[in-house]
Amino acid sequence: MANDTLSVTDNRTGKKFELKIENGCVRAMEFRQMKVDAEDFGLMTYDPAFLNTANCKSAITFIDGDKGILEYRGYPIDQLADKSTHLETAYLLMNGELPNKTQLDEFTNKITLHTYVHENIKQFMDGFRYDAHPMSMLASTVAALSSFYPEARQVRNKEVRRHQMMRLIAKMPTLAAFSYRHSQGLPYIYPNNDLSYTENFLTMVKSIGKPNWRPHPALVRALDVLFILHADHEQNCSTTSVRVVGSSEVDPYSACAGGITALYGPLHGGANEAVLRMLREIGDKKNVPEFIAKVKDKDGDKKLMGFGHRVYKNYDPRAKVIKKACDEVFEVTGKNPLIDIAVELERIALQDDYFVQRKLYPNVDFYSGLIYEAMGFPMEFFTCLFAIPRTVGWVTQFEEMITDNEQKIARPRQIFTGSKKRDYVAMDKR
Ligand code: CMC
Repeated sequence: MANDTLSVTDNRTGKKFELKIENGCVRAMEFRQMKVDAEDFGLMTYDPAFLNTANCKSAITFIDGDKGILEYRGYPIDQLADKSTHLETAYLLMNGELPNKTQLDEFTNKITLHTYVHENIKQFMDGFRYDAHPMSMLASTVAALSSFYPEARQVRNKEVRRHQMMRLIAKMPTLAAFSYRHSQGLPYIYPNNDLSYTENFLTMVKSIGKPNWRPHPALVRALDVLFILHADHEQNCSTTSVRVVGSSEVDPYSACAGGITALYGPLHGGANEAVLRMLREIGDKKNVPEFIAKVKDKDGDKKLMGFGHRVYKNYDPRAKVIKKACDEVFEVTGKNPLIDIAVELERIALQDDYFVQRKLYPNVDFYSGLIYEAMGFPMEFFTCLFAIPRTVGWVTQFEEMITDNEQKIARPRQIFTGSKKRDYVAMDKR
């Protein structure tokens, strides 16, 4: 389109500029040419928290936040949740296309072959206090993996890089399960390569005293669906962390450890834990209006956890799938009584002007914690259940970043607001 430009007049100098508009964006570097004199650094753009800045081009995940659409490589999330498996979705994300049977078998086999971790990792785990948060243990042990695979530094070597990506996807359930067992004072259970990815994980977490114990197939499927829903979500906080850390060309284990720590926070992956704490605090359906009033109180510091999203200004499509999955899980586990409070919160919030005007809807974390709790996971473990599947997104985005010729080491600018240059003052003169 001939008019795909932005005309800018710099009123400080009267100079006019034509900036190219591409993919709905102008390049921030175009502003650098706008200077008041030769000494001037040039105009920058200021965008705290990247509210309106695209940091990359990506072909992995598409979100239309206004319409509530989420697609992996073009496939709608509800179709994948209904028909796919986590490992098939992982293949799709990593390779861009759904696998045929041979490709999926090979991929599954490779992942399965890498589920074991070095025996030293167990000693590493044992070093943590009995009450260490599983996410701290997960972040540290994933970072430690880089010391076991020094070749991982060759991030520009595709074969080596892919090897580490498979290892990360394969080992994450084992490390998460070990962190759970450590926090429960239980012996570690080694991976069983006869089982599927998700069945193996649940077995490593839950099996006690019965070597042939297997989780209920409905729960395996429900968790696999949750894994699919969490596999990627384009440039969220943890993925951006992985890209930023990885842009220094550090190995993918170190970069993913950065992603895990970002995910740990209550505004990101830690929100499902916060939702359960909130539902407990509310305690009963009848207390919901009072709680909503506290959330709306400008002087208070309460948020409706599991509501709102930077990108979705509509119902999070993942929350829809999870809400449905609740019933299937509760049929096996019995109903989680907190669901009644959650449903009432959603009902009242969605009719309330405060939430309607701000387009605040339930997000992925609003119902997921209820399922995790019904499955018998302690709250502290919920974010690990997010980190396992998100590893697929992290490594895929890491690879996309490393192979993108436009990317460089991430290094934003700042607006300096501190003191001007001044001379050091001796202690007795201060
Ligand atoms: N409860 C009450 N008010 C809210 C909430 C909430 N959960 N979320 C946003 N608002 C209000 C906010 O106070 C602001 O109001 P005002 O315009 O009067 O100042 C307005 O809505 C816009 O919010 P914002 O803080 O500018 O939005 P953001 O894009 O910076 O934050 C968010 C997005 C997800 C961090 C935020 O909605 C939030 O803190 N939600 C609760 C935590 C949560 O559920 N996080 C999980 C996110 S989804 C999974 C993931 O990414 O890990």
